Amino acid sequence: MTSPPPPPPLYAVFGNPIAHSRSPRIHALFAEQTGVALRYEARLAPVDGFEAALDAFYAEGGRGANITVPFKFDAWRLCVRRSPAAQLAQAVNTLGWDEGGLWGDNTDGIGLVRDLARVLAADTHRPLQGQRVLLLGAGGAASGVLGPLIAAGARAIALWNRSADKAQALAARHSALAAQHGADLQVVLEPPTHWADGVINATAASLEGRALDLPDGVLRPAQWAYDMMYGAHDTPFVAQARTAGASAWDGLGMLVEQAAQSYTLWHGEAPTTAPVLATLRAELAAARQHSA
Ligand code: ATR
Repeated sequence: MTSPPPPPPLYAVFGNPIAHSRSPRIHALFAEQTGVALRYEARLAPVDGFEAALDAFYAEGGRGANITVPFKFDAWRLCVRRSPAAQLAQAVNTLGWDEGGLWGDNTDGIGLVRDLARVLAADTHRPLQGQRVLLLGAGGAASGVLGPLIAAGARAIALWNRSADKAQALAARHSALAAQHGADLQVVLEPPTHWADGVINATAASLEGRALDLPDGVLRPAQWAYDMMYGAHDTPFVAQARTAGASAWDGLGMLVEQAAQSYTLWHGEAPTTAPVLATLRAELAAARQHSA
């Protein structure tokens, strides 16, 4: 008698909330495209119970996990080994287990830079290199992308956060990298007006459904704007930027790109992202029509 085949390896995304995560769909599309058998689930962990939830997942056979709000810092603390990107960010969005124990990486920054470079080239014919960037926020999302933005050649980065002390700590951690790349990295107490070539929103304001209270002239025509959040409808920040005359994009492309990098780390194969992004866009548009 033959025994049933073992179930495909198990992966998950952990967060709180998590119900609306598109990660299971993205990884299912990547798996279909590359012919890899896997299970990928969304797991809700209690806000004060991430470690126990992760332990239980590993005991169940979990091989790897993506981590989202609010657990990226907890995940970073729990890792035995961390990639340079994770170490600089002090935040982890990709976990895996090997013979050395729990390792962590941060693929958010690569995801942002790949998508931003793509939309900038396609819509404005500009490279990211040499741009003056205003980065709004200093939480887990901003931490993950600052290093890769510097490494991608942004000429100057102004970092603004509602709580300035967090922006100071983030900038201090990245000062050596900025010097190495010749980038001018500064913390600003007010978002500068008539300064940035592009503005990136890494605050949770859009998640809360709120527009940021920005002085006139921060967002302006002939500028680009990128919201790391996304939704079926334009995010408040994307709407705000377009009203000011800027070219604005949401973070769905970044979500797909960071997922692709996690997928490559786990499975050793890089999926093609464009068709997956197109599928997700179509599904979001259908959801919008359905809710209209
Ligand atoms: P994430 O991992 O998504 O970055 P986080 O670590 O909770 O989540 O960080 C949220 C970020 O959004 C922070 O920079 C936060 O500012 P504070 O550090 O001052 O809390 C910012 N944020 C949240 N709501 C905001 C709002 N309404 N206006 C401006 N900034 C906001």
